[in-house]
Amino acid sequence: MSRHHVTATINGDEVEFSCTTDQTLLDVLRGELHMTGTKNGCGSGDCGACTVVLDGRPVNACLVLGVEVGGATIETVEGMAGKDRKLHPLQQKFLDHAALQCGFCTPGVLVMAKALLEKNPNPSESEVRFGLAGNLCRCTGYDKIVRAVLDAAAEMRASGS
Ligand code: FES
Ligand code: FES
Repeated sequence: MSRHHVTATINGDEVEFSCTTDQTLLDVLRGELHMTGTKNGCGSGDCGACTVVLDGRPVNACLVLGVEVGGATIETVEGMAGKDRKLHPLQQKFLDHAALQCGFCTPGVLVMAKALLEKNPNPSESEVRFGLAGNLCRCTGYDKIVRAVLDAAAEMRASGS
């Protein structure tokens, strides 16, 4: 199968890669670019582990083809910490609240939560639960995740970030 040359902006950097027409964005991130923070939970759009932000919208990277993202802007979990390696408030609050166990769902949850807070900086608990409904977690029971997101939102509002 022939390979296609694609250029996209990933976490602020222009990135070039080549892929076949049947490779998903998830395949590209993990297999071609070795950005393994984005997880492959189901490969079929059901679990949210592969969530990335594509042109401002959270999507399941397993449902997007690599050849579709030419010229696009993509944010992955690797871009959440600052260039100085300081954790994003959501990442820090997940640690503070022990909101992860095996951690497999965590990158997708973090990326989705960040997108949620950018749209709605002061969500209610039910808005957080609704916003994260597509991100499945087999370990935590979700309560600690929700508490971490609400706490991060409060801190981000207080700091104006
Ligand atoms: S791996 Fe994409 S939704 Fe599960
Ligand atoms: S922490 Fe294990 S799936 Fe969520």
